[in-house]
Amino acid sequence: MKGLPTIGVVGAGAMGSGIAQIAAQAGHAVILVDHSKSALDRSAASLSKIADKLVKKGKWSATVSKRIQSSIHRTSEIERLSTCQWVIEAIVEDISVKHSLFQSLEAIVSPGAVLATNTSSLSVTSIAGKLQYPERFIGLHFFNPAPLMALVEVIPALQTDHSHVDKAVALMEAWGKSPVVAKDTPGFIVNRVARPFYGEALRIFEEGLASPQTIDAAMRNAGFRMGPFELMDLIGNDVNYAVSCSVFEAFYNDPRYRPSLIQKQHVDAGWLGRKSDKGYYEYEKGNEISGGDILTDTKEFDWIVKRIVSMLINEAADALYLKIASAKDLETAMKKGVNYPKGLLAWCNEWGTKTTLNILENLQNHYGDDRYRPSPKLRDLIAQRSEFII
Ligand code: NAI
Repeated sequence: MKGLPTIGVVGAGAMGSGIAQIAAQAGHAVILVDHSKSALDRSAASLSKIADKLVKKGKWSATVSKRIQSSIHRTSEIERLSTCQWVIEAIVEDISVKHSLFQSLEAIVSPGAVLATNTSSLSVTSIAGKLQYPERFIGLHFFNPAPLMALVEVIPALQTDHSHVDKAVALMEAWGKSPVVAKDTPGFIVNRVARPFYGEALRIFEEGLASPQTIDAAMRNAGFRMGPFELMDLIGNDVNYAVSCSVFEAFYNDPRYRPSLIQKQHVDAGWLGRKSDKGYYEYEKGNEISGGDILTDTKEFDWIVKRIVSMLINEAADALYLKIASAKDLETAMKKGVNYPKGLLAWCNEWGTKTTLNILENLQNHYGDDRYRPSPKLRDLIAQRSEFII
């Protein structure tokens, strides 16, 4: 559309292709760069397939489909990005490769252009640290599949000029997304706050207190679309374990983020989940065959939900205490990034802060493990006879 800035996207894999599609849907001309010609071809073929499906379903008209597809220009020549006012990078998750790409981009784009990374695990500040003009660098973390997931975490580096944060939020809103602003800390919001969903479930299983089937059923019964184990099988136990390890290391081995031995064993055994036909469940051609839905012991549901959700609430409370994001953005992030049935702070208000604190204190006393230490935010709220204001 006339007047809208041209958007550059580097990396035509799953994420870059999705981001290019969203920008084209919003009316931008897009230049999609990948050093691999076959990746560019695959990206075009996959968009054409998506477009055909959406036209058949009546969601896109044939004209819209044609306009969206023809507004994405694919190339291996990075110099073509010189006309872009925004360039979003979605290449391999390797800091030295990202550094060298952004150094090249700085020599190509105009001084007013904003450069963004879609990294999910690297420090935005450390990428910016190698740039000549770090003040125009920012993180824009989309979720997979990018065209369908509303959440985008906007992550300013320590060096970012704040005017770019407002611009990025406005751009994402114009694209129909739900942007939240997060401090540049390990895992940003979602990958940090969601750790106990997996970690605490694994811990319960490891202790032999409940089976994956029972834990999954309990969490589904509490409103989660999927239980932790079926979700880990879907994500891939190798991928989920790698994220856990990277967050744990980035937090200097804080026990709250300690990865699980039983998960490592599943990875070592090659029980990666759906993709290897075996994880916590068994699969055949992608369908579960181990009876994950068989009737489980509902008497166990209450304590399982209390233990996992109180740990999730504790993470959200601590993220608020440390000013990682506003209360409103923390709630949006978990509802739109991982489809939680409600915001965690609202959940705490519903249970009562005292009840949540008691669960955590009991766990900490029982295990003598710093992993369960309650966030000071919970104690502050109780002292102030207040609750979370969202
Ligand atoms: P992918 O492996 O599907 O695609 C990466 C693409 O980048 C490939 O087509 C590759 O040819 C290209 N590429 C690599 N180095 C390049 C370079 N120097 N210049 C031009 N093209 C280059 O990866 P995916 O899954 O799309 O992820 C991309 C980024 O997005 C990573 O940083 C990842 O951490 C992040 N991310 C991934 C999510 C996911 O669920 N896959 C979710 C959110 C963020």
